[in-house]
Amino acid sequence: MNAYYMSSNSNVHRAVHTLAGEATEGYESCRTRLKEWFNADRAVITSGTTEAINLVAHAWGRANLTAGDAIVLTEMEHHSDIVPWQMLAEERGVELRYIPVLEDFTLDMEAYAASLDGAKLVCVVHTSNVLGVRNPLEEIIELAHGNGSLVLIDAAQGVPHERIDFKQSKADFMAFSAHKMCGPTGIGALLIDGDVFETMQPFMGGGDMIETVTVNGSTYQNNEHKFEAGTPRIAEAVGWCAAFDWLSKINLSEEHNRLIKIARWVSEQLRSMGISVYGRHDEKDSAVVSFLHPKIHSEDLAHLFDSRGIAVRTGHHCAQPLLHRLGISGTVRASFYLYNTMDEAKIFVEQLKLITERFG
Ligand SMILES: Cc1ncc(COP(=O)(O)O)c(C=O)c1O
Repeated sequence: MNAYYMSSNSNVHRAVHTLAGEATEGYESCRTRLKEWFNADRAVITSGTTEAINLVAHAWGRANLTAGDAIVLTEMEHHSDIVPWQMLAEERGVELRYIPVLEDFTLDMEAYAASLDGAKLVCVVHTSNVLGVRNPLEEIIELAHGNGSLVLIDAAQGVPHERIDFKQSKADFMAFSAHKMCGPTGIGALLIDGDVFETMQPFMGGGDMIETVTVNGSTYQNNEHKFEAGTPRIAEAVGWCAAFDWLSKINLSEEHNRLIKIARWVSEQLRSMGISVYGRHDEKDSAVVSFLHPKIHSEDLAHLFDSRGIAVRTGHHCAQPLLHRLGISGTVRASFYLYNTMDEAKIFVEQLKLITERFG
Protein backbone atom coordinates (compact mmCIF):
# COMPACT_ATOMS: atom_id res chain seq x y z
CA MET A 1 0.00 0.00 0.00
CA ASN A 2 2.91 2.31 0.74
CA ALA A 3 4.44 1.51 -2.64
CA TYR A 4 1.11 2.21 -4.34
CA TYR A 5 0.77 5.63 -2.67
CA MET A 6 4.43 6.45 -3.31
CA SER A 7 4.55 5.56 -6.99
CA SER A 8 1.20 4.63 -8.60
CA ASN A 9 -1.38 6.78 -6.82
CA SER A 10 -4.16 7.52 -9.29
CA ASN A 11 -7.82 6.81 -10.00
CA VAL A 12 -8.89 3.64 -11.84
CA HIS A 13 -10.69 2.85 -15.12
CA ARG A 14 -10.51 6.43 -16.43
CA ALA A 15 -7.39 8.15 -17.67
CA VAL A 16 -4.96 6.65 -20.19
CA HIS A 17 -1.79 7.76 -18.40
CA THR A 18 0.66 5.29 -16.87
CA LEU A 19 -0.30 5.87 -13.25
CA ALA A 20 -3.98 5.27 -14.01
CA GLY A 21 -3.00 2.05 -15.77
CA GLU A 22 -0.99 0.88 -12.74
CA ALA A 23 -3.80 1.77 -10.34
CA THR A 24 -6.36 -0.07 -12.50
CA GLU A 25 -4.08 -3.08 -12.72
CA GLY A 26 -3.61 -3.07 -8.90
CA TYR A 27 -7.34 -2.77 -8.22
CA GLU A 28 -8.50 -5.32 -10.79
CA SER A 29 -5.86 -7.85 -9.75
CA CYS A 30 -7.59 -7.93 -6.38
CA ARG A 31 -10.78 -9.06 -8.15
CA THR A 32 -8.80 -11.67 -10.08
CA ARG A 33 -7.26 -12.93 -6.82
CA LEU A 34 -10.71 -13.13 -5.23
CA LYS A 35 -12.11 -15.13 -8.14
CA GLU A 36 -9.13 -17.49 -8.12
CA TRP A 37 -8.93 -17.94 -4.35
CA PHE A 38 -12.66 -18.58 -3.92
CA ASN A 39 -13.47 -20.08 -7.34
CA ALA A 40 -16.20 -17.52 -8.09
CA ASP A 41 -17.57 -16.01 -11.31
CA ARG A 42 -18.58 -12.69 -9.76
CA ALA A 43 -16.71 -10.78 -7.06
CA VAL A 44 -17.92 -7.31 -6.12
CA ILE A 45 -15.45 -5.32 -4.05
CA THR A 46 -17.14 -3.63 -1.06
CA SER A 47 -16.06 -1.88 2.12
CA GLY A 48 -16.49 -5.13 4.06
CA THR A 49 -18.99 -7.78 5.12
CA THR A 50 -21.51 -5.19 6.28
CA GLU A 51 -21.65 -3.38 2.96
CA ALA A 52 -21.73 -6.69 1.08
CA ILE A 53 -24.83 -7.83 2.99
CA ASN A 54 -26.50 -4.42 2.61
CA LEU A 55 -25.76 -4.68 -1.12
CA VAL A 56 -27.71 -7.95 -1.29
CA ALA A 57 -30.60 -6.42 0.68
CA HIS A 58 -30.80 -3.45 -1.72
CA ALA A 59 -29.71 -4.86 -5.06
CA TRP A 60 -31.32 -8.32 -4.84
CA GLY A 61 -33.89 -7.89 -2.03
CA ARG A 62 -35.62 -4.85 -3.43
CA ALA A 63 -35.84 -6.39 -6.90
CA ASN A 64 -37.01 -9.82 -5.76
CA LEU A 65 -38.92 -9.64 -2.46
CA THR A 66 -42.49 -8.56 -1.87
CA ALA A 67 -44.89 -8.52 1.09
CA GLY A 68 -45.57 -12.01 2.42
CA ASP A 69 -42.15 -13.42 1.43
CA ALA A 70 -39.97 -14.70 4.25
CA ILE A 71 -36.27 -14.53 5.07
CA VAL A 72 -34.75 -17.12 7.40
CA LEU A 73 -31.96 -15.92 9.71
CA THR A 74 -30.36 -17.48 12.76
CA GLU A 75 -30.12 -16.33 16.35
CA MET A 76 -26.33 -16.39 16.06
CA GLU A 77 -26.05 -13.77 13.30
CA HIS A 78 -23.82 -10.73 13.67
CA HIS A 79 -25.85 -7.48 13.67
CA SER A 80 -24.66 -6.85 10.11
CA ASP A 81 -26.70 -9.89 9.02
CA ILE A 82 -29.79 -8.86 11.00
CA VAL A 83 -30.26 -5.10 10.78
CA PRO A 84 -30.25 -4.79 6.94
CA TRP A 85 -33.01 -7.46 6.82
CA GLN A 86 -35.02 -5.76 9.55
CA MET A 87 -34.85 -2.52 7.55
CA LEU A 88 -35.98 -4.31 4.39
CA ALA A 89 -38.72 -6.18 6.28
CA GLU A 90 -40.09 -2.90 7.57
CA GLU A 91 -40.04 -1.35 4.10
CA ARG A 92 -41.42 -4.35 2.18
CA GLY A 93 -43.57 -6.26 4.68
CA VAL A 94 -41.23 -9.26 4.51
CA GLU A 95 -41.36 -11.77 7.39
CA LEU A 96 -38.17 -12.63 9.31
CA ARG A 97 -37.79 -16.05 10.92
CA TYR A 98 -34.94 -16.92 13.27
CA ILE A 99 -33.51 -20.42 13.69
CA PRO A 100 -32.97 -21.00 17.43
CA VAL A 101 -29.61 -21.84 18.98
CA LEU A 102 -29.68 -24.99 21.16
CA GLU A 103 -28.07 -25.65 24.56
CA ASP A 104 -25.04 -27.22 22.85
CA PHE A 105 -24.49 -23.93 20.91
CA THR A 106 -25.58 -25.43 17.57
CA LEU A 107 -28.50 -24.47 15.34
CA ASP A 108 -31.83 -26.23 15.74
CA MET A 109 -31.88 -27.95 12.34
CA GLU A 110 -35.38 -29.34 12.81
CA ALA A 111 -36.70 -25.84 13.37
CA TYR A 112 -34.71 -24.74 10.32
CA ALA A 113 -36.28 -27.35 8.05
CA ALA A 114 -39.72 -26.36 9.35
CA SER A 115 -39.08 -22.64 8.74
CA LEU A 116 -38.42 -22.84 5.01
CA ASP A 117 -41.96 -22.72 3.65
CA GLY A 118 -42.34 -19.45 1.71
CA ALA A 119 -38.72 -18.42 2.38
CA LYS A 120 -37.01 -16.69 -0.55
CA LEU A 121 -33.67 -16.28 1.21
CA VAL A 122 -31.70 -17.97 4.00
CA CYS A 123 -28.96 -15.91 5.67
CA VAL A 124 -26.55 -17.77 7.89
CA VAL A 125 -23.22 -17.07 9.49
CA HIS A 126 -20.47 -19.50 8.39
CA THR A 127 -18.83 -19.46 11.82
CA SER A 128 -20.12 -17.61 14.87
CA ASN A 129 -17.86 -14.77 15.98
CA VAL A 130 -18.91 -15.38 19.60
CA LEU A 131 -19.01 -19.17 19.87
CA GLY A 132 -16.60 -20.20 17.14
CA VAL A 133 -19.21 -22.77 16.05
CA ARG A 134 -19.01 -23.57 12.32
CA ASN A 135 -22.51 -24.17 11.02
CA PRO A 136 -23.46 -27.19 8.84
CA LEU A 137 -23.54 -25.08 5.68
CA GLU A 138 -23.66 -28.01 3.28
CA GLU A 139 -26.90 -29.27 4.83
CA ILE A 140 -28.34 -25.75 5.21
CA ILE A 141 -27.71 -24.92 1.54
CA GLU A 142 -29.06 -28.24 0.27
CA LEU A 143 -32.30 -27.86 2.24
CA ALA A 144 -32.72 -24.23 1.16
CA HIS A 145 -32.20 -25.00 -2.52
CA GLY A 146 -34.60 -27.95 -2.27
CA ASN A 147 -37.13 -25.37 -1.15
CA GLY A 148 -36.23 -22.90 -3.92
CA SER A 149 -34.65 -20.41 -1.47
CA LEU A 150 -31.36 -18.63 -2.16
CA VAL A 151 -28.61 -18.66 0.46
CA LEU A 152 -26.36 -15.89 1.73
CA ILE A 153 -23.37 -16.93 3.82
CA ASP A 154 -21.77 -14.40 6.16
CA ALA A 155 -18.26 -15.82 5.88
CA ALA A 156 -16.47 -13.08 7.85
CA GLN A 157 -15.23 -15.66 10.39
CA GLY A 158 -14.96 -18.52 7.90
CA VAL A 159 -12.47 -17.07 5.41
CA PRO A 160 -9.63 -16.79 7.94
CA HIS A 161 -9.79 -20.51 8.70
CA GLU A 162 -10.88 -22.31 5.56
CA ARG A 163 -10.04 -22.04 1.88
CA ILE A 164 -13.67 -21.86 0.70
CA ASP A 165 -14.65 -22.98 -2.80
CA PHE A 166 -17.65 -20.75 -3.55
CA LYS A 167 -18.96 -22.71 -6.54
CA GLN A 168 -18.60 -26.01 -4.75
CA SER A 169 -20.39 -24.60 -1.69
CA LYS A 170 -23.37 -23.84 -3.97
CA ALA A 171 -24.13 -20.70 -1.94
CA ASP A 172 -25.68 -17.82 -3.90
CA PHE A 173 -24.01 -14.98 -1.99
CA MET A 174 -20.96 -14.92 0.23
CA ALA A 175 -19.85 -11.85 2.18
CA PHE A 176 -16.54 -11.28 3.99
CA SER A 177 -13.94 -8.67 5.01
CA ALA A 178 -10.25 -8.46 4.14
CA HIS A 179 -9.14 -7.59 7.65
CA LYS A 180 -10.21 -11.02 8.91
CA MET A 181 -7.70 -12.63 6.55
CA CYS A 182 -4.64 -10.49 7.25
CA GLY A 183 -5.63 -7.75 4.78
CA PRO A 184 -6.36 -4.06 5.42
CA THR A 185 -9.52 -2.61 6.98
CA GLY A 186 -12.17 -0.88 4.87
CA ILE A 187 -12.36 -3.49 2.11
CA GLY A 188 -14.24 -6.75 1.62
CA ALA A 189 -16.18 -8.59 -1.03
CA LEU A 190 -19.45 -10.11 -2.09
CA LEU A 191 -19.27 -13.26 -4.21
CA ILE A 192 -22.39 -13.83 -6.28
CA ASP A 193 -23.60 -16.80 -8.32
CA GLY A 194 -23.48 -15.91 -12.04
CA ASP A 195 -27.22 -16.42 -12.70
CA VAL A 196 -28.31 -14.61 -9.54
CA PHE A 197 -26.05 -11.70 -10.50
CA GLU A 198 -28.24 -11.09 -13.56
CA THR A 199 -31.34 -10.63 -11.36
CA MET A 200 -29.82 -7.76 -9.36
CA GLN A 201 -30.30 -4.05 -9.87
CA PRO A 202 -27.70 -1.42 -8.95
CA PHE A 203 -28.60 0.56 -5.85
CA MET A 204 -25.86 3.18 -5.69
CA GLY A 205 -25.63 5.41 -8.73
CA GLY A 206 -22.63 7.46 -9.81
CA GLY A 207 -19.41 7.37 -11.78
CA ASP A 208 -17.80 4.12 -12.96
CA MET A 209 -20.99 2.02 -12.82
CA ILE A 210 -22.65 3.38 -15.96
CA GLU A 211 -22.46 2.65 -19.67
CA THR A 212 -24.16 5.85 -20.89
CA VAL A 213 -25.76 8.85 -19.19
CA THR A 214 -28.06 11.37 -20.86
CA VAL A 215 -30.25 13.98 -19.24
CA ASN A 216 -33.15 11.57 -19.74
CA GLY A 217 -31.65 8.47 -18.16
CA SER A 218 -28.71 6.09 -17.81
CA THR A 219 -27.71 2.57 -18.70
CA TYR A 220 -25.44 0.48 -16.47
CA GLN A 221 -22.43 -1.74 -16.95
CA ASN A 222 -23.24 -5.42 -16.88
CA ASN A 223 -20.34 -6.54 -14.73
CA GLU A 224 -19.25 -6.03 -11.10
CA HIS A 225 -18.65 -2.32 -11.74
CA LYS A 226 -22.38 -1.75 -11.70
CA PHE A 227 -22.21 -2.25 -7.91
CA GLU A 228 -19.04 -0.21 -7.39
CA ALA A 229 -20.13 3.39 -8.02
CA GLY A 230 -17.53 6.10 -7.33
CA THR A 231 -13.79 5.93 -6.67
CA PRO A 232 -13.11 2.49 -5.16
CA ARG A 233 -10.70 1.35 -2.45
CA ILE A 234 -7.60 1.13 -4.61
CA ALA A 235 -4.81 1.12 -2.02
CA GLU A 236 -6.75 -1.38 0.10
CA ALA A 237 -7.21 -3.65 -2.92
CA VAL A 238 -3.44 -3.56 -3.48
CA GLY A 239 -2.94 -4.38 0.21
CA TRP A 240 -5.39 -7.27 0.03
CA CYS A 241 -3.41 -8.76 -2.88
CA ALA A 242 -0.33 -8.77 -0.64
CA ALA A 243 -2.36 -10.58 2.04
CA PHE A 244 -3.41 -13.21 -0.52
CA ASP A 245 0.26 -13.63 -1.52
CA TRP A 246 1.23 -14.17 2.11
CA LEU A 247 -1.69 -16.48 2.92
CA SER A 248 -1.08 -18.60 -0.15
CA LYS A 249 2.26 -19.66 1.37
CA ILE A 250 0.49 -20.97 4.47
CA ASN A 251 -1.22 -24.34 4.86
CA LEU A 252 -4.49 -23.06 6.29
CA SER A 253 -5.88 -26.44 7.20
CA GLU A 254 -2.72 -27.42 9.14
CA GLU A 255 -2.77 -24.05 10.87
CA HIS A 256 -6.43 -24.50 11.68
CA ASN A 257 -5.73 -27.86 13.33
CA ARG A 258 -2.97 -26.26 15.40
CA LEU A 259 -5.19 -23.36 16.48
CA ILE A 260 -8.24 -25.42 17.42
CA LYS A 261 -5.99 -27.55 19.66
CA ILE A 262 -4.84 -24.36 21.41
CA ALA A 263 -8.44 -23.17 21.83
CA ARG A 264 -9.51 -26.57 23.17
CA TRP A 265 -6.68 -26.60 25.70
CA VAL A 266 -7.46 -23.04 26.83
CA SER A 267 -11.17 -23.80 27.21
CA GLU A 268 -10.40 -26.93 29.27
CA GLN A 269 -8.10 -24.91 31.53
CA LEU A 270 -10.75 -22.23 31.99
CA ARG A 271 -13.50 -24.75 32.76
CA SER A 272 -11.24 -26.41 35.37
CA MET A 273 -11.01 -22.99 37.05
CA GLY A 274 -14.82 -22.79 37.32
CA ILE A 275 -15.11 -20.34 34.42
CA SER A 276 -18.11 -20.65 32.03
CA VAL A 277 -17.01 -21.18 28.42
CA TYR A 278 -19.45 -20.57 25.55
CA GLY A 279 -18.61 -22.81 22.61
CA ARG A 280 -17.79 -26.45 21.86
CA HIS A 281 -14.48 -26.31 19.92
CA ASP A 282 -15.23 -29.05 17.45
CA GLU A 283 -12.71 -29.90 14.75
CA LYS A 284 -14.03 -27.33 12.23
CA ASP A 285 -14.89 -24.57 14.73
CA SER A 286 -12.76 -21.45 14.92
CA ALA A 287 -10.24 -20.87 17.68
CA VAL A 288 -12.14 -18.30 19.74
CA VAL A 289 -12.72 -18.83 23.43
CA SER A 290 -15.63 -16.82 24.83
CA PHE A 291 -15.98 -16.93 28.59
CA LEU A 292 -17.35 -15.30 31.73
CA HIS A 293 -15.41 -15.19 34.98
CA PRO A 294 -17.65 -15.96 37.98
CA LYS A 295 -16.16 -13.17 40.13
CA ILE A 296 -14.39 -10.59 37.96
CA HIS A 297 -16.35 -8.24 35.71
CA SER A 298 -15.48 -8.66 32.01
CA GLU A 299 -14.37 -5.04 31.51
CA ASP A 300 -12.11 -5.20 34.60
CA LEU A 301 -10.66 -8.46 33.38
CA ALA A 302 -9.98 -6.95 29.94
CA HIS A 303 -8.14 -4.00 31.56
CA LEU A 304 -6.11 -6.37 33.73
CA PHE A 305 -5.17 -8.43 30.67
CA ASP A 306 -4.35 -5.27 28.72
CA SER A 307 -1.95 -4.09 31.42
CA ARG A 308 -0.17 -7.43 30.94
CA GLY A 309 0.07 -6.95 27.16
CA ILE A 310 -2.78 -9.33 26.32
CA ALA A 311 -5.60 -8.08 24.07
CA VAL A 312 -9.06 -9.63 24.55
CA ARG A 313 -12.42 -8.41 23.30
CA THR A 314 -15.35 -7.85 25.66
CA GLY A 315 -19.01 -6.95 25.28
CA HIS A 316 -21.83 -8.20 23.09
CA HIS A 317 -19.64 -8.76 19.99
CA CYS A 318 -22.39 -7.25 17.78
CA ALA A 319 -24.49 -10.36 18.40
CA GLN A 320 -27.03 -9.23 20.99
CA PRO A 321 -29.78 -11.73 20.00
CA LEU A 322 -27.35 -14.61 20.58
CA LEU A 323 -26.28 -13.30 23.98
CA HIS A 324 -29.94 -12.81 24.88
CA ARG A 325 -30.51 -16.45 23.96
CA LEU A 326 -27.59 -17.48 26.19
CA GLY A 327 -29.05 -15.37 29.02
CA ILE A 328 -25.98 -13.12 29.34
CA SER A 329 -25.13 -9.59 28.24
CA GLY A 330 -21.55 -10.13 27.09
CA THR A 331 -18.44 -12.29 27.26
CA VAL A 332 -14.67 -11.94 27.27
CA ARG A 333 -13.26 -13.40 24.05
CA ALA A 334 -9.75 -14.61 23.42
CA SER A 335 -9.10 -15.27 19.72
CA PHE A 336 -6.19 -17.30 18.43
CA TYR A 337 -4.92 -16.94 14.88
CA LEU A 338 -1.90 -17.60 12.67
CA TYR A 339 0.37 -15.31 14.68
CA ASN A 340 -0.36 -16.99 18.05
CA THR A 341 1.59 -19.83 19.67
CA MET A 342 0.85 -22.41 22.35
CA ASP A 343 3.37 -20.62 24.59
CA GLU A 344 1.28 -17.47 24.34
CA ALA A 345 -1.83 -19.47 25.24
CA LYS A 346 0.02 -20.77 28.31
CA ILE A 347 0.96 -17.23 29.32
CA PHE A 348 -2.69 -16.22 28.88
CA VAL A 349 -3.88 -18.99 31.25
CA GLU A 350 -1.04 -18.30 33.71
CA GLN A 351 -1.92 -14.61 33.84
CA LEU A 352 -5.61 -15.44 34.28
CA LYS A 353 -4.70 -17.63 37.26
CA LEU A 354 -2.62 -14.82 38.79
CA ILE A 355 -5.42 -12.28 38.21
CA THR A 356 -7.95 -14.70 39.78
CA GLU A 357 -5.72 -15.24 42.86
CA ARG A 358 -5.39 -11.52 43.35
CA PHE A 359 -8.81 -10.16 42.40
CA GLY A 360 -11.18 -13.17 42.19
C1 LIG B 1 -19.52 -12.92 11.72
C2 LIG B 1 -19.33 -11.48 11.33
N1 LIG B 1 -20.13 -10.91 10.42
C3 LIG B 1 -19.99 -9.64 10.03
C4 LIG B 1 -19.00 -8.84 10.55
C5 LIG B 1 -18.90 -7.43 10.09
O1 LIG B 1 -17.72 -7.22 9.39
P1 LIG B 1 -17.30 -5.73 8.92
O2 LIG B 1 -17.38 -4.88 10.16
O3 LIG B 1 -15.92 -5.90 8.41
O4 LIG B 1 -18.27 -5.28 7.90
C6 LIG B 1 -18.14 -9.37 11.51
C7 LIG B 1 -17.10 -8.52 12.11
O5 LIG B 1 -16.55 -8.77 13.11
C8 LIG B 1 -18.30 -10.72 11.90
O6 LIG B 1 -17.50 -11.28 12.82
